[in-house]
Amino acid sequence: MNYTLNPARYEQMPYRRCGRSSLLLPAISLGLWHNFGSVDDPVEAERMLLHAFDAGITHFDLANNYGPEPGSAEQNFGRIVKKQLSSHRDEMLVSSKAGHRMWLGPYGDESSRKNLMASCDQSLRRTGLDYFDIFYSHRYDGVTPVEETMQALIDIVRQGKALYVGISKYPVDKQLEAYRILREAKVPCLLSQYKYNLQVRQVEQGNLPTAAEEGTGFVAFSPLNQGMLTDKYLSGRIPEGSRAARPDGFLQRDQVTEEVVASSRRLSAIAQRRGQSLSQMALAWLLHDERVTSVIIGARTVEQMDASFASLQNVQFSLEELAEIDAACGV
Ligand SMILES: NC(=O)c1ccc[n+]([C@@H]2O[C@H](COP(=O)([O-])OP(=O)(O)OC[C@H]3O[C@@H](n4cnc5c(N)ncnc54)[C@H](OP(=O)(O)O)[C@@H]3O)[C@@H](O)[C@H]2O)c1
Repeated sequence: MNYTLNPARYEQMPYRRCGRSSLLLPAISLGLWHNFGSVDDPVEAERMLLHAFDAGITHFDLANNYGPEPGSAEQNFGRIVKKQLSSHRDEMLVSSKAGHRMWLGPYGDESSRKNLMASCDQSLRRTGLDYFDIFYSHRYDGVTPVEETMQALIDIVRQGKALYVGISKYPVDKQLEAYRILREAKVPCLLSQYKYNLQVRQVEQGNLPTAAEEGTGFVAFSPLNQGMLTDKYLSGRIPEGSRAARPDGFLQRDQVTEEVVASSRRLSAIAQRRGQSLSQMALAWLLHDERVTSVIIGARTVEQMDASFASLQNVQFSLEELAEIDAACGV
């Protein structure tokens, strides 16, 4: 059955300019790392994607290896877009990435030109799209010269396979080198994508201010620390169905430590005083920083997604609240 879109969908979502580019990104983007693979419920996946688009989410974040099975999130995304949203392609920003293990053999991993060029073609075939809006180097791999990886990104743009490029998880020195090479080729880095949330703050010391100073947008992934910044683990138990309980989830049970749970409990008390849930405060806290262009959420259900949208109602924090939050996180 065809989905009827809400004609007022763009009135609900704030959009932010991406660094020095004028491109607008929704404050909340949707990532398809989990919950859109071949092991997941295809009906809920379709509901979530359509619900997101209907709420003004225009940016969908993919990678070659998202699933499981690796590649199946791209396939499912392509299937849903073809079925329900094919006339809305120009309203969407679709990103994909290459750089983690995807296929067997020496070229199915890392950030060589060989890997990126082949992977981009494979991702286009899986999604059925003619081009990606943003194509990323998924990681600095520690061996490939940054120049080689960036030249592949530049050529992907010149071949019309992507409109913009981005980098993810580059250490600061390699991040700066990547920006310089891309700038000199007149294919400036649009986005820098890093893990950033209340409990994972490393980017504050380098990657985040560097992205801002260099004029690239910054997108924060795992803004809820894979679900640990929600109420679900506050009791100290791992609920059935949660990411930490899933055999194929990236969050391992032993990562839900007493220390993390204790910090989430302290943060939850602050959130309650603000009239927000812990997850809503976690997203709002990221968005109160204007250097953060967008937060890429993951969701397992439409209800989780709606709970995240409610965070947009209050992204203001007093200095006292910010200090209290830092103390609760042990910063
Ligand atoms: N560049 C990179 O290397 C990289 C790495 C990782 C992620 N990413 C991107 O970032 C995206 C988001 O990452 P993420 O999935 O880790 O984000 P996240 O928002 O930190 O975690 C999402 C998970 O939190 C739980 N959740 C969300 N809303 C909830 C709510 N209201 N109440 C209770 N639980 C809730 C769900 O897990 P349950 O199943 O437990 O309910 C959901 O799947 C990915 O899809 C991907 O696009 C990029």
